Amino acid sequence: MFTQDQLKQQAAQAALDYVLPQLQPDSILGVGTGSTVDRFIDLLAAHRDAFQAAVSSSERSTRRLQAAGIAVLDLNDVPGTALYVDGADEIDHQLNMIKGGGGALTREKIVSSVADRFVCIVDDTKLVSQLGGFDLPIEVIPLAREAVAREIRQLGGLPRLRADFVTDNGNQILDVAGLDYQGDPAAFEALLNNIPGVVCCGLFAISGAHVALVAGQDGVSRLALQDD
Ligand code: 5RP
Repeated sequence: MFTQDQLKQQAAQAALDYVLPQLQPDSILGVGTGSTVDRFIDLLAAHRDAFQAAVSSSERSTRRLQAAGIAVLDLNDVPGTALYVDGADEIDHQLNMIKGGGGALTREKIVSSVADRFVCIVDDTKLVSQLGGFDLPIEVIPLAREAVAREIRQLGGLPRLRADFVTDNGNQILDVAGLDYQGDPAAFEALLNNIPGVVCCGLFAISGAHVALVAGQDGVSRLALQDD
C-alpha cells in the first residue's frame, strides 16, 4: 500500500516522463506550486540543461527552482509556454479543478493561462466525481474582505478567513464551504470573478486541465478530454 506521499512522488515522476520528450533547448516550462510540484522540481533538476528556463507561479516554487539551478523568467518576458505542470486540491473527470490550498491560485491561474497545455499531477485522493469536498479558496483584496464575504453568504457559502496567511500578491484568502456549483462550475467561476474585491477564485473550470496524471495504488493513469 503506497502512502499519499509516495503517490505524489509517482505523479511527479509521471509528469517528468510526460514533459521531458517535449522539451527543447529553448523551451520555457510553466511550473505550479505545492508539495507534488516540489517533487517534480526536484526531479527536473537533473534535466535543467534540457530546456531554457521556467516561469513560476509562486515565490516558493521560484526559490526551489533556483536552488535546483533552473533559471526562472519573469512572465512579462515570456510570450507563452507549451506546458504548465501543477497539482490540484480536487479534480473531476471533466478536468475541472479546485486549487489554492497552498494559496498560490492567482499566479497559478495566470501562468497556466499562457500555456498550451495544463498537466495536472495528483494522487488519486484528489480525483472526485463532483467538486466541492474541498473548501474553495478565494483571494481577496484585504479592503474588500467583508464585502466579498457578504456576497459569498448570499450565494450560500460559508467563508472563513485563512488565518496568518498573506498571498504573494499581498492579499488574503477566504476558504469557502457550502457552495453548490455542481451544475455549471464554469458559470460559477465567472460569477465569483465578478464580485468586486475578488482577485481570483480557486475554481479552474472556465479553463481546466488538458491532461491529468493520477497516481493510485495500481499505477499512474492518464485522463484527458481529447487524445493526448
Ligand atoms: C497551491 C495549489 C496546489 O496545487 C494544491 O494545493 C495541491 O497541493 P499539493 O500538491 O501540496 O497537494 O493549488 O495553490
